[in-house]
Amino acid sequence: PRGASLTDFAERIGVDVSSLVQMLFSLGEMVTATESVNDETFELLGEELNYVVQVVSPEDEDRELLESFDLEFGEDEGDEADLAIRPPVVTVMGHVDHGKTKLLDALRNANVVDKEAGGITQHIGAYQVTAEVDGNDRRITFIDTPGHEAFTAMRARGAQATDIAILVVAADDGVMPQTVEALNHAKAAGVPIVVAVNKIDKPEADPTKVRGQLTEYGLVPEEYGGDAMFVDVSAKSELNLDKLLEAVILTADASLDLRANPNQDAQGLVVEAHLDRGRGPVATVLVQRGTLRVGDSIVAGAGYGRVRAMLDEHGDTITEADPSRPAMVLGLTAVPGAGQTFIVVEDDRMARQIAEKRESRERAAMQAKRRVRRTLEDFMAS
Ligand code: GTP
Ligand code: MG
Repeated sequence: PRGASLTDFAERIGVDVSSLVQMLFSLGEMVTATESVNDETFELLGEELNYVVQVVSPEDEDRELLESFDLEFGEDEGDEADLAIRPPVVTVMGHVDHGKTKLLDALRNANVVDKEAGGITQHIGAYQVTAEVDGNDRRITFIDTPGHEAFTAMRARGAQATDIAILVVAADDGVMPQTVEALNHAKAAGVPIVVAVNKIDKPEADPTKVRGQLTEYGLVPEEYGGDAMFVDVSAKSELNLDKLLEAVILTADASLDLRANPNQDAQGLVVEAHLDRGRGPVATVLVQRGTLRVGDSIVAGAGYGRVRAMLDEHGDTITEADPSRPAMVLGLTAVPGAGQTFIVVEDDRMARQIAEKRESRERAAMQAKRRVRRTLEDFMAS
């Protein structure tokens, strides 16, 4: 892949980068782990590793696969007139224990925090709430992400799927490592950030300090002449939650054109998925365009099936889900990976064919990776 470094390559195939550097060194090539590597060097490495170095990215390959079925992921069908306003998708990010889940609980009158193992979020949750802003009912989709340092990939994915990020910073704790990490994910994804300075009910809370700290990271509050919105809140005492919702809607209305075609076959992202004992594979999906309906034939990653039932965030059954709506989907044959796409296709047969192609490709890639790892291990041992 063009512009990729040995580190990127090592990550893709799941090996230690230093063994790649050493192998190239033994072949007379001096390459550092992070510099971008030219195609010839990759080919050389590929020959040595008995690995077909892919010039096409898996994304391109999948695009071609869909094209062969006359499908395209990622574009709304039709023209301007077919697009309708959709709710903003807002990802809540921040350091562990700074109150992301509690804040979402407060915004939607629920209680997830008390049910979580050890009080730590380990997966992504998605909810839609209806908020009254300026006398209008506005729907907002929230995605909760874990703050624990182990979940970097989940935060990165959360930032990808989102229109706006709420960066939660506890006012008693201030800016911490995953605050900065989350900030960088949002920046990298080009997503506008609203800062929620949380826990201001605590006597030791210092919201001014948080503003100063974030200013150093380029997030300058409006009141200091910057363009970042800061809202002081307390998830516990339910303070200023309306102001936070207002800031979100203001950001959406002012700087984003959030529209999608609801009248087409649905497409979107798998937010999370797991195998349920009784219900089989269960996937929480975010519809990005089109309307997903019970009975639709879908492919999600390497899983496929007919949507047997859909549930909303309260566990109530729904029959359809429009753009920006998260829904739990039952009826897939296999558990798709979080962050993978889903797409509605003509019929079960097409769904199965696409899923089978993806699966055999995944399997081949896995075998190749295993082979490479073995070759590298042998090389390092010799
Ligand atoms: P992870 O998902 O594990 O990253 O944590 P989180 O950011 O979701 O934090 P969570 O909502 O689980 O809250 C962590 C702890 O802080 C809980 O004990 C909450 O009750 C408490 N908490 C959250 N918000 C507030 C607040 O506004 N004030 C006070 N005093 N406590 C809060
Ligand atoms: Mg949480």
